[in-house]
Amino acid sequence: MGDRPFIVGFSFGILPVILAYFKGWLWFPAELTWENQGFLILCAIVTFSNYLNEYLQWYPLQYSKFAPEGGCPARVGWFIMYSTPALAYVIVWNYLGAPTSSYDLLMLGLYCTHFTKRCLEVLFVHKYSKDCLFLTVIEIASFYSLGAVVTAYSLHRLSGPDRNSFLDDELRVKVGLCIWVTGQLINLVHHYILSTLRSPGSYKYIVPTGGLFGLIVCPQYCGELTSWLGFGLIGYSFGAFVNYVPMVAYLCARAHHTYRWYGTKFDDYPGKGTMKLWPWVY
Ligand SMILES: NC(=O)c1ccc[n+]([C@@H]2O[C@H](COP(=O)([O-])OP(=O)(O)OC[C@H]3O[C@@H](n4cnc5c(N)ncnc54)[C@H](OP(=O)(O)O)[C@@H]3O)[C@@H](O)[C@H]2O)c1
Repeated sequence: MGDRPFIVGFSFGILPVILAYFKGWLWFPAELTWENQGFLILCAIVTFSNYLNEYLQWYPLQYSKFAPEGGCPARVGWFIMYSTPALAYVIVWNYLGAPTSSYDLLMLGLYCTHFTKRCLEVLFVHKYSKDCLFLTVIEIASFYSLGAVVTAYSLHRLSGPDRNSFLDDELRVKVGLCIWVTGQLINLVHHYILSTLRSPGSYKYIVPTGGLFGLIVCPQYCGELTSWLGFGLIGYSFGAFVNYVPMVAYLCARAHHTYRWYGTKFDDYPGKGTMKLWPWVY
């Protein structure tokens, strides 16, 4: 019952973006310059390639459950993967003249807070069963850094001078902030639950329980996407969603394979009615 097709999960993830557009909570420039078009096309290409590579498994990223033992210490590898995008964002922001409007600083702060939290989790929360492959470290660090460059450039340059009024709609900003914080907390709590499953010295995979694990197999991904949706609503510009859309495709695919992986390893999980990523839906 929980094994619904990719299109269900992807459409559900994209639905809030469509609703935001019709509610006037998503800004598009009046004139689609070649730069805007290029960024939108890039976003579409990455989204589709995430579907091909991760869902259809053409060239899936190899880490965690789906990877062999690597040669790079896990904490070092993951720290590199999560610190490079924050650094890339700061470099682009600085290259664009280090703009200091409330909008520019808020978006910079939210972006860097997200990846700082991930770095702290890598160092102090997660318990890894194996070291990472060097190739994966390079691939994920590059993939995230590309996302950081696109987001920073589109938020601080392509959104134009009007962006300084993007925080005027207090309701949208407050709703976005609530969604962002909720997503970060869901993500953190489920990372913590996962870290409590293994006893010291054990590298086994165990059926996760507690939190939202009875409803979905990847609540940590659900939290991740929720926080990026909040980021998009706060940012208002299309540039604030260019991260979210490809991530929906990526995590819908990853959750699908995690769901199937659990099904082959354990008799009693996922239970009837347990979904992959979105409670009751997918
Ligand atoms: N934005 C994006 O596109 C994107 C994409 C992927 C990930 N992320 C972020 O990165 C986070 C981690 O991603 P991930 O795919 O590495 O998550 P994950 O597979 O859930 O792993 C997180 C940690 O929990 C451990 N773990 C997972 N399942 C376990 C089980 N059944 N029993 C015991 N330990 C278990 C993992 O150990 P092992 O390493 O030994 O498996 C790892 O240390 C996500 O929650 C998300 O916040 C973001």
